[in-house]
Amino acid sequence: MSIAKAYDVAYVRFAVPDLDLMERFLTDFGMIVAERSADRLVMRGHGDRPVCHVSERGEPAFLALGIWLKDTADLEALAAHDGVAVEPLDLPGGGSVVRLRDPDGFLVEAVAGQASAEVVECPASPSWNQGGAYPRQSATRRVRQGPSHVLRLGHAVLGVSNFSQSESWYKERFGFVTSDEIRPVPDVAIGAFLRCNRGDVPCDHHTVFLIERPIPPGYMHSAFEVVDVDDLLSGHDHLIEKGYDHFWGVGRHYLGSQIFDYWKDPWGHEVEHWTDGDQFVTADGGGIGSLEQLMGVQWGMKMPPLPAGESEA
Ligand SMILES: [Fe+2]
Repeated sequence: MSIAKAYDVAYVRFAVPDLDLMERFLTDFGMIVAERSADRLVMRGHGDRPVCHVSERGEPAFLALGIWLKDTADLEALAAHDGVAVEPLDLPGGGSVVRLRDPDGFLVEAVAGQASAEVVECPASPSWNQGGAYPRQSATRRVRQGPSHVLRLGHAVLGVSNFSQSESWYKERFGFVTSDEIRPVPDVAIGAFLRCNRGDVPCDHHTVFLIERPIPPGYMHSAFEVVDVDDLLSGHDHLIEKGYDHFWGVGRHYLGSQIFDYWKDPWGHEVEHWTDGDQFVTADGGGIGSLEQLMGVQWGMKMPPLPAGESEA
């Protein structure tokens, strides 16, 4: 039994020196401004979550990962276990937060009790005429041009200094279950794709991915779900036209199966668009993944060369 149960990731929080530039980038990336002041930019997706990305004015840095708990009583349990306070969450939607430090010093903000946001309309994802079936009849398919439509934050990836220590820390507090453990050689695990333990309610293949690397621990990327593959590709064209820094994609992952597209924000923080990921219930259990599956693609652009010791997923 874990102390609390994560239901999803909530948001990522960064410091950046130019909030106007970040707002332009994230708007072009497909998010919506939820709140803006001289010192803070809060973005949301088109779904019912009130926040998915927070930027504060400062030197560029990854500041925190927000993890959403459905049960507010879990916050009290977490706070008691780690000897910290339950505090009001100063973000759109309100709610409460417990601030924890993971074994590498990453700030983890466990949040609960946020009010839902109003869903913002997205382009419809019409039926696909494929596989010899033609459900779309007497109707054209027209893709809306411009930015993708981010629905929500789906996962975050952290490079850690000691995988087993970090895995224990996150599982003990948040109840994550393993979808795929990364073993470069038998019996040696260096990372794992972890999903939320929602019982019979399906969950993304991964909510948090932890991987041990022979370089200092650090933020690797955060990944935002978009409407469908048309939405992802029209957003790709839009970001190319705007001259942003593309990193990797479009392709389809092995582990999680998502169609993906990776970009860098103006300060080099990686952010991913994805759609059509696997969903599992707790009883589906987990498996073992190889480095080849981790770094490879089922189709699409191969992963660009990385600095020694780094990996992506
Ligand atoms: Fe990812």
